Amino acid sequence: MDATIEDFSGDMIEYLAAQEQKSLLRFLTCGSVDDGKSTLIGRLLYDTKLIFEDQLAALESDSARHGTTGTDIDFALLVDGLESEREQGITIDVAYRFFATAKRKFIVADTPGHEEYTRNMATGASTADLAVVLVDSRQGILPQTRRHSYIASLLGIRHIVVAINKIDLMSYSEDVYDRIVADYLEFAKDLGFETIVPIPMSARYGDNVTMRSEHMDWYKGPVLLEHLETVPVETDMADKAFRMPVQLVSRPDLNFRGFAGQVASGRVGVGDEVVVAKSGQASKVSRIVTMDGDLERAEAGQAVTLVLEDEIEVSRGNILVAPEDRPAVADQFQARVIWFDAAPMIPGRSYLLRTEADSTPATITALKYQVDVNSFAHEAAKALNMNEVGVCNLSTQSPIVFDPYGDNRVTGNFVIIDRLTNRTVGAGMIDFALRRSQNVHWQAIEVNKQAHAALKAQKPAVLWFTGLSGSGKSTIANTLEKILHAKGKHTYLLDGDNIRHGLNRDLGFTAEDRVENIRRIAEVAKLMADAGLIVLVSFISPFRSERRLAREMMDDGEFVEVFVDTPLEVCAERDPKGLYKKAMAGEIANFTGISSPYEVPEKPEMCLLTENTQPVDLASMIDDYLTAHFQNED
Ligand code: ADX
Repeated sequence: MDATIEDFSGDMIEYLAAQEQKSLLRFLTCGSVDDGKSTLIGRLLYDTKLIFEDQLAALESDSARHGTTGTDIDFALLVDGLESEREQGITIDVAYRFFATAKRKFIVADTPGHEEYTRNMATGASTADLAVVLVDSRQGILPQTRRHSYIASLLGIRHIVVAINKIDLMSYSEDVYDRIVADYLEFAKDLGFETIVPIPMSARYGDNVTMRSEHMDWYKGPVLLEHLETVPVETDMADKAFRMPVQLVSRPDLNFRGFAGQVASGRVGVGDEVVVAKSGQASKVSRIVTMDGDLERAEAGQAVTLVLEDEIEVSRGNILVAPEDRPAVADQFQARVIWFDAAPMIPGRSYLLRTEADSTPATITALKYQVDVNSFAHEAAKALNMNEVGVCNLSTQSPIVFDPYGDNRVTGNFVIIDRLTNRTVGAGMIDFALRRSQNVHWQAIEVNKQAHAALKAQKPAVLWFTGLSGSGKSTIANTLEKILHAKGKHTYLLDGDNIRHGLNRDLGFTAEDRVENIRRIAEVAKLMADAGLIVLVSFISPFRSERRLAREMMDDGEFVEVFVDTPLEVCAERDPKGLYKKAMAGEIANFTGISSPYEVPEKPEMCLLTENTQPVDLASMIDDYLTAHFQNED
């Protein structure tokens, strides 16, 4: 039941033409689980006669089976499409509904209210003009009301309807209404909404949804539908600067080369100059091609293929922009991040950042503060947990093209993807590029890595030893360094216990600190490899993400992951420093293998089983590997 339309008997063409002329309002509903969102949408559709007869019949019989309203029609069933939702009694995915009245067209995103579904709320809200925040009259403002209002504000929604629902259960009381309105206005005053319209209603009985209630003479404001039909829609995307992300380079034959995509914002006409955002290369539009023939002009929302006058380099993922109003191109910026995942966001960890046009590894270099979604206070934090919002500095591996989110919601947002699980774990809104990224440049150094390595007559390598505490990493690394040193190789051994006395003295053993510990060491190892050394790194390095980060920082083939594979029982039995004993007695927190995880390497270059082999023999095996793979001839 996605495309429902009002009763139309007149001429089809006329009807469609009238639809075209109507403005479009995108809105979403949000609130707590039982506030009645689905019932409200069902009621809207029902009262505006947007339900086809057969659906109505189905609804009546369904209500008798699953409904929670006795013999009345349960409007929530109309909207909650998924069988599983009915069984759980909650809405779990964003459902978009399309409908129209004589005055306006609507797209409504019905977003779930369950605690962990902030993700869906954010998905539904990123294109919406207005949010209907439902409040149960019996409950008043709940943490969810605040969280959802805050996220709506963060996502750039400027119009709010506070639907004070189930007022029938509070005897249509004006006092109840006044108190909730006062509470809402008090907490929402700093959220930057342009309009906040509170409406007392009963979605179940239809009071003040599409028709004025007979029970609330004291209420003089608009009913919901009336307000939705008349609220001014956000500034049109067509009035913003021209942006078109290239989705496809269309080259059907040698005579035609066009760039297909949807105009994200602004307008473009034949003869206009356009620039490739990242390279700055410019050309002029010679044709605007569509399925229905060529156009003179196109604007936001239209899917077109642009043909340019010159053969400039444009590939999928580039953004074509207006030359006089260009987006930022930077690899460091500040953004507001909403975290969705059960595993927390940790500064220093490498994630995949995806915008409309770019996809690149990125790290959160600093979590400046977290925002308490109840008090909106700024709080210091080391990580972001599920449903938390923080202001962060981010750094991407390669520069990305963007606009501040406040200027353009299409080119100003991104999602964060976990590189191991491929899950979308967060979303962000970019504030601005960090000036330092523009002012810090690479300095060309003439005595380079090759020169350093040549003088030492060796090929640089990073031998990364990972394994549990007491697995034998340091012993083997130490033995190997002696062998290499004796052969005249230039080496350096970075050992966890030692580095933690100096460079990383400020770090402990929480997940956040371990991520930072490894990030710094990977940077140091990279510098040492750059100096031409064979670097031995001996750290527990318990997380796959950070070992992967280290690997990606080095040149191809330079990184050798050596998994020192000693079972936990054996390490605990050896217990060279007496730490396992303490950890098992609960005297050391976050002890790897006991109260903090160790993620076993998936594809290490070498896997050393230490139980029946002497360290010196294991070290020789690595030496042989080096000779074979690094042409480090003796
Ligand atoms: S890592 O996890 O961040 O890579 P790192 O290799 O630097 O750890 O340090 C591990 C060493 O610190 C261990 O060999 C042990 O001597 C000591 N240590 C102290 N507390 C802990 C702990 N909670 N977990 C693991 N090792 C610890």
